[in-house]
Amino acid sequence: MNAASLNSGLVHTPLRPFGRVIEAPDGAEITDIPVDTLARWTVESRVLVLRGLRLLGKKEFADYCRLWGEVLKWEPGEVIDLIVEDDPKNYLFASGDVPFHWDGAFVEANPRYFFFQCLDATPDSGGETVFSDTTMAYRDAEPELRKRWERVSLTYKTEKLAHYGGEVTERLVSQHPATGVPVLRFAEPLDPDTYKNPVYVTVGGLQDDDRPDQFLDSTAELLHRSEYCYHHVWQSGDIVIADNYALVHGRNAFTGPTARHLQRVEVI
Ligand SMILES: [Fe+2]
Repeated sequence: MNAASLNSGLVHTPLRPFGRVIEAPDGAEITDIPVDTLARWTVESRVLVLRGLRLLGKKEFADYCRLWGEVLKWEPGEVIDLIVEDDPKNYLFASGDVPFHWDGAFVEANPRYFFFQCLDATPDSGGETVFSDTTMAYRDAEPELRKRWERVSLTYKTEKLAHYGGEVTERLVSQHPATGVPVLRFAEPLDPDTYKNPVYVTVGGLQDDDRPDQFLDSTAELLHRSEYCYHHVWQSGDIVIADNYALVHGRNAFTGPTARHLQRVEVI
């Protein structure tokens, strides 16, 4: 299918409070849509949900993502299979919730985009991926709160139990590389009593009367507000492209047995 004829056959539907579903006609391939067009739509919408396209083989998926930029190589490979495991070492593979984070915090490179394809989904079993748009949270914040945020740096520490680990310090407020708008780089601490792979967070740059735990709680509460969050309910065949700079993301707990199988690739 050529790009012009496919473009007219794509049905765009906005998601709330942000994001976009694009439904493709039968027989369409992701490679029929120019990468720069999809990249523009991703930056505009922060999350793109593509439906009706053929899913790609594992190597083919990584090769496709390479058209967007350098593909991040994890120890297990370029494509990470996300499947719920019976005895996982890392919370990503357990059935509980995954608190907000951005991908690649513990690697040198900062991925621009991440790609998922959903090979299998179990309806009505929870496990929605939750995306929070930090650009909207920043835009709505009072000038005084923005000033407090500008001073803050967060240090994250985690043991390497799966494909990532280490210690990293990041300023809370950063700039989106494509649009220049302020974004928040925030990951929630993971309590060792609850999570298989705890993440410890220390806060630098607070004023004397600010308590670190209150600061972390209030920032997490703000980003969880419904006006900033899109909850993605997976369907088999979904291809999702997300902006890893504008968003933080996490996952709701599964509410029952699941056979869900996602594959994920990060593009720098
Ligand atoms: Fe993630």
